[in-house]
Formats: sequence, C-alpha cells, structure tokens
Amino acid sequence: MFRAIDLLSGDDLKNLLKGPMVIAIDGPTASGKGTLAQRLAKRLGFAYMDTGVLYRGVAKTALDNGLDPENADDAAKAAKILAENYSLSLQEDPSLRLEKVSQAASQVASVAEVRNILLDIQKNFAKKPGKNKDGENYLGVVMDGRDVGTVICPDAHIKMYIDADAEIRAARRVEQLISKGLEATHENVLKELQIRDGRDSNRDTAPLEVADDAFTIDSSSLNANEVLARALDIVRGYLIGAQAAMKMHQY
Ligand code: DC
Repeated sequence: MFRAIDLLSGDDLKNLLKGPMVIAIDGPTASGKGTLAQRLAKRLGFAYMDTGVLYRGVAKTALDNGLDPENADDAAKAAKILAENYSLSLQEDPSLRLEKVSQAASQVASVAEVRNILLDIQKNFAKKPGKNKDGENYLGVVMDGRDVGTVICPDAHIKMYIDADAEIRAARRVEQLISKGLEATHENVLKELQIRDGRDSNRDTAPLEVADDAFTIDSSSLNANEVLARALDIVRGYLIGAQAAMKMHQY
C-alpha cells in the first residue's frame, strides 16, 4: 500500500512542509469528490474534513430553530449557533443528507457572513488537524469542499478539482438514494442538482471555481478506484518533486 511516508519519512515531510501537508479537493455536487477525499485521507493516513458538512449543519440548525435559510440574518444566526457547538463528529450525522437540508445548505452557503463565520473552523483544522488514533500528529489533511483551494487554503500543497457531466452525476445520485431505500427520479434529481450547481457557481462570495493551480480530474467515465489511482499519482508526483527539491537543498 502506498503511503505518503513511503516516499518521504515522517520527519522529512515535517521538515519540508513546516506543518501538515494540505490537499484541497473541490468540485460540484455528486462529482465523486467526497468519496475520493475520504479514501485518499485513509490511504495516506491523513485527517479528513468534509467542509460541506458545516454548511449542512448551519442549514439544519436554521430549519430546526424556525429560522429562514434564505434570509441572510437568520442564516448568520444559525451559523453562530453551529460554530459555538461544532465538533468533527457532525460528519457522522445522517440527517444532514436529506434533500431539504441539501437545498437549504446551498442557500446559507451564499450568505457572505455565514462563510466568514465558518472560515476559522476550516483554516484552523488545516493548520492543526490533531492526532490520529495512535496519538501521533497527523502529517497531513484532506479537505473537501467548493472553495478549499481558492479561499480556505489558497496555499494548499496540492489542489484537485473533481468534475463530471451533470447527467452522470444525477444518475449516480439516483443510484445512491435508491440504494438507501429512498425514492428518486432522474428528472427531479437532475433538476435539483442543476439548481444547486447554479447557486454554488454564481454566488458573489467564494463561488465554486477551479483554482488556477488545481489538477482537474473528470470522473465522468471513471470509477472510484480509477479516480483514487489518478489522485495518488498526483500526490506521488508532488512528493517526488519535494524529495528532489530537498536533496538539492542538502547539496
Ligand atoms: O458538498 P456538499 O454537497 O455536502 O455541500 C453542501 C452545500 O454547501 C453545497 O450546496 C455547497 C456548499 N458548500 C460551500 O459553499 N462551500 C464549501 N466549502 C462546501 C460546501
């Protein structure tokens, strides 16, 4: 199994990077970026943060407290409540995946104040992802979202943008929903996905866009293993370059 430390020892990696290695993975909904980010983090032994969970958490907080996710003041109130009570275990809450929460998440995500309130949680995690289950500091972190490479971690060591055709993303989402015993039609899922894509890409603050220095992977005709293999090639390439730079520096 390939791990980051197979190419550079943990100490070398620490010395070279002066902090955790940051891998930013951005892309539209159902592009496969979440699956990739989780598998990549596991494979490399890195920490993982799904930043979409924060916006979903704000949306659910708004809905649970009778606040209107489309109203900027209400959305900001919900974001403050969430920020005060946030813990990484929020990632495990299945109710955040409900369609009404997904739509509300994309509404609160277009409010600049909400994004601002959630900024520190994300930046702090990238800088200090904490310790792994063996009690050692994580050597790196994989962050998955829409603006990780452009706004949250513009200096990320590696940036990837995962994309796929909208029809294919909708088909994948339908399959996912049906496998969970939920009802879904391709037409409805495609429509909702396009509404969210439009809102995420056209908002004024931190819209979904490809960072200039990101590697793009189009997952339309790739399965999850193939996407992971491409991502690992990118990481390997980065580490080989870093190792060469370190050797040159030593001479
Ligand atoms: O990745 P996701 O579907 O769980 O994200 C939920 C919503 O949150 C999505 O509509 C876009 C928004 N989001 C965002 O604006 N910025 C992020 N870094 C992550 C998610």
